[in-house]
Amino acid sequence: MRISNLLLSVALLGATATQAAVPVYLDDSKPLEERVEDALSRMTLREKINIIHAQSKFSAPGVPRLGISELWCTDGPMGVRPEVLWDEWEQASWTNDSCMAFPSLTALAATWNPEMAKLYGKSIGEEARYRNKAVLLGPGINIYRTPLNGRNFEYMGEDPFLAGKMAVDYVKGVQANGVAVCVKHFALNNNEINRHTSNPIVDDRTLYEIYLPAFKAAALEGGAWSFMGGYNLFRGEHASYNPILMNDILKGEWGWDGAVISDWGAVHETESAVKGGLDMEFGSWTNGLTNGVSNAYDNYWLANPYLNGIKEGKYSEDELNDKVRRVLRLTFRTTMNRNRPYGAMLSDEHIAACRNIGGEGVVLLKNQGDLLPINPAKVKKIAVIGENAIKMMTVGGGSSSLKAAYEITPLQGLKNRLGKEYEISYARGYVGDTTGEYNGVRTNQDLRDFRSKEELLADAVKTAKDADLVLFFGGLNKAPHNDAEDFDRTTMDLPYGQNELIDALAKANKNLVVVNISGTGVAMPWVNKVPAIVQAWYLGNETGNTLADILSGDVNPSGKLPYTYYTSLDQVGAHKLGAYPGTKTKDRFGNEMWDMPYNEGIYVGYRYIDKNKLKPNFPFGHGLSYTTYKYGKATVDKAVGAKGDKFTVSVPVTNTGKRAGSETVQLYISDLKSSVDRPVKELKGFSKVALQPGETKTVTFEIDEPALSFFDADKHAWVSEPGDFEALVGASSADIRSKVKFTVK
Ligand code: GLC
Repeated sequence: MRISNLLLSVALLGATATQAAVPVYLDDSKPLEERVEDALSRMTLREKINIIHAQSKFSAPGVPRLGISELWCTDGPMGVRPEVLWDEWEQASWTNDSCMAFPSLTALAATWNPEMAKLYGKSIGEEARYRNKAVLLGPGINIYRTPLNGRNFEYMGEDPFLAGKMAVDYVKGVQANGVAVCVKHFALNNNEINRHTSNPIVDDRTLYEIYLPAFKAAALEGGAWSFMGGYNLFRGEHASYNPILMNDILKGEWGWDGAVISDWGAVHETESAVKGGLDMEFGSWTNGLTNGVSNAYDNYWLANPYLNGIKEGKYSEDELNDKVRRVLRLTFRTTMNRNRPYGAMLSDEHIAACRNIGGEGVVLLKNQGDLLPINPAKVKKIAVIGENAIKMMTVGGGSSSLKAAYEITPLQGLKNRLGKEYEISYARGYVGDTTGEYNGVRTNQDLRDFRSKEELLADAVKTAKDADLVLFFGGLNKAPHNDAEDFDRTTMDLPYGQNELIDALAKANKNLVVVNISGTGVAMPWVNKVPAIVQAWYLGNETGNTLADILSGDVNPSGKLPYTYYTSLDQVGAHKLGAYPGTKTKDRFGNEMWDMPYNEGIYVGYRYIDKNKLKPNFPFGHGLSYTTYKYGKATVDKAVGAKGDKFTVSVPVTNTGKRAGSETVQLYISDLKSSVDRPVKELKGFSKVALQPGETKTVTFEIDEPALSFFDADKHAWVSEPGDFEALVGASSADIRSKVKFTVK
């Protein structure tokens, strides 16, 4: 070989060797920000515009030319939504996307157990990873401001501290799979009525003390990689590109580096979306004439209108580059992270997780005469009554609707567990919602029943009379104006004449258990006529097994209410002070807008109950067990401390019953003297402790300065004032077992 050829081939070899060097943006070993800057520097203007808006119902394009992958999103917070047609909500009828339906997030909150949140996040994250999704559109953590909100079942209750703690571990669990969460709906999307036009009018203190803390925890402690902006407005601007929420608070004060994704159809014009901190636009209706006209994606507000605006000099590329950086960061953290695990679907672990989380979330509200667990010495014949004993609940309710691989109904679960030992009869009792389809997913149940209300009631009463124990399964379902997105409830009352039926059953048989399946609180006019009441949430695939575990006593209930069970709307600040659904007006474009003043301010839930000395049916944090617990005296490590000092409160808790159980010990803080009006007490700690019969454990809480602080709107800062405080330790917000004072000098 001639020298020159040799030199040439060496040179080429060298050249190909350097060409083969992986570009920085594709090199997992390089720091994230270097990868982002390198990718950004290689993209054209058109490519930058392309990746900040959808290309299909649930996906955004990457940069094919550079090998930057597409971003695929999926609902929802309780399971991975079935694949949909490219540009439709309808399911695509694939045959490989039937999923695990986990318990609703209210059920998760009701476990008061961050370990369950971590297990939940890990499990659902593995399902989303297995389906090759980059972004899971959850968790939803809007505050339970009114029992009428149609989506309370998707959220984590009325208290920002509880919701925040549970969200943090859910976020970490999901993202450990290289799947991003999309914390929603930021912020103030606390009702479904007029959800696109509600304009909550909220003062800063209320915003920072009640409606932001859970989101801040998810963003900073959880490390959420994306957030979803809400449909509603805030101070006259849509949440999804609200400069106060997105620029000043989320990206400014909190320094959050993730991507803001709009809710689907939440973007209504270009300039605000450009300047208001929105990073990705999904689900827009573009031509304003027909919803979802196909392939209108180039007409998206952040598509050609934005591109043209830049070309005409209306916008610089600064905002665009920031959006692109955040989308690239999201991509490199998910689909372009080679070190991700591989996920799994419908694994034994996920099935067990569904049942264990549900079992820890079911709340035993009342159990007079220890009617539960079912006692084989006293019971032979069990009458199961009610539509919710046989109705599948994983289909319907809006974007959280799923194509579950299976769903065990309460009746089926009871038969599985108790069918051999007991005689189980069933009566429908009432007919509620007989639909069984959502976005093309069918339950394949035929719940039609043409008997009259009277016949149904008579049959149920007869069946009840003839039994030793009656288990009534009622409550709500996922039909409009029940627990469903895009609708609020119009009343707290149970639908379909259930109250009358429950009264009749109580007369027919005193051994009556009401198992209320719902995601939000309902009125219980019969609460004093029924000896045992169980709050059962939407529990997913394993519903029937989970409820059989609890009712049979295999599992000792340990759930606690994540919200106040009001007797009526008279006990709810949002309604008592007349700020719901607000008053109709116009936004700055002249479009309909509903001003909704949050007149109740920070007095939401138990904060309102305490302030007005009200007595709800069941208080926030309430939940019974099949055993009993005794709390010893709470003590504090020092009676006096300096500003900024930490105080440690300890309390011994003993299981004084005959069976093992877990008790969630709650810590509330009361500021005995403050320059501003403050709630009587606020939740600042909780700890779920497992105790064998006779066992005592000492639970300790560390109280730091933030736990003593309130938000001073004038200073725009959290402040704690010196003076006397009290730590209240309890089994619920209304069952304080021990108090101890301490002073901050
Ligand atoms: C819906 C919901 C949101 C959901 C999104 C996609 O309207 O508000 O929670 O993730 O659109 O389905």
